[in-house]
Amino acid sequence: MQILDGKKAAQAIKDELKISVAQRANEGKKIPHLAAILVGNNGASETYVAAKVKACEETGFKSTLVRLEADISEYKLLEAIEELNTDPDVDGILVQLPLPKHISEKKVISTIDPGKDVDGFHPMSVGKMVEGLPTFIAATPYGIMLLLEQYKVETKGKHAVVIGRSNIVGRPMSILLSGNSNPGNCTVTLCHSHTANLKEICLQADIIVAALGIPEFVKADMVKDGAVIIDVGITRVSDPSRKSGFKLKGDVAFEEVSPKSSWITPVPGGVGPMTIAALMKNTYLACETKN
Ligand code: GUN
Repeated sequence: MQILDGKKAAQAIKDELKISVAQRANEGKKIPHLAAILVGNNGASETYVAAKVKACEETGFKSTLVRLEADISEYKLLEAIEELNTDPDVDGILVQLPLPKHISEKKVISTIDPGKDVDGFHPMSVGKMVEGLPTFIAATPYGIMLLLEQYKVETKGKHAVVIGRSNIVGRPMSILLSGNSNPGNCTVTLCHSHTANLKEICLQADIIVAALGIPEFVKADMVKDGAVIIDVGITRVSDPSRKSGFKLKGDVAFEEVSPKSSWITPVPGGVGPMTIAALMKNTYLACETKN
């Protein structure tokens, strides 16, 4: 078993970006600027956005955090996005999800200027990704592809089983892994809550991407010897012994699955940091494309 160390790989990407940003600054060019909108004060969202802002600081990017009340109207939120769309200093915009129930996530995502859609959620970005055209790729699947690339994990001809069909992770992941560049060239099975015989399908997998959001769902008896395990889950479960009152659990039962795996991502320190590194790469690209 070998660890796919997302923390280390993400640091390497951020170090590279930091050098590129410093170079741009030396040449008198604009430095990348990420604007994040956070609606309400969901604990996990607060943590994720804070981590994104911190990554900007570490890499020499400019960042703006726009905080809006949980009861803000959809119209006001769309207005805030329009303001960032037209601000020439802002290169990338993200609206942290989930949003309060009274706001349509689809409407919000579609309002972001596709040229600033560093989360890669806009239908235009998704369409281009499906066609294999250059675009912003959603940060989590993009981060996973970068991690596989960094560790030279062989994917060609392998059977990848993706568990979870979210627009943010599962669906784009299945498309990227089945793509005709490397990493990729996998035969992909996309599983979800209505999949019959999930265990049997998982047992045929050379690569499992667990992105369903159920802690420790993937057990040792679902995994073939030598499989590559990518754990996207980060559920907070209560742990009174910790100062925070919770610990993070992945979708994979790490203790029992890891001895069977060839490669595995830990939680935390696997996919999470790669998501942020991928977002930074997208933001750099957004800046470089226009400036
Ligand atoms: N919520 C969970 N993951 C993400 C993400 O990658 N981007 C945004 N904006 N919200 C999220």
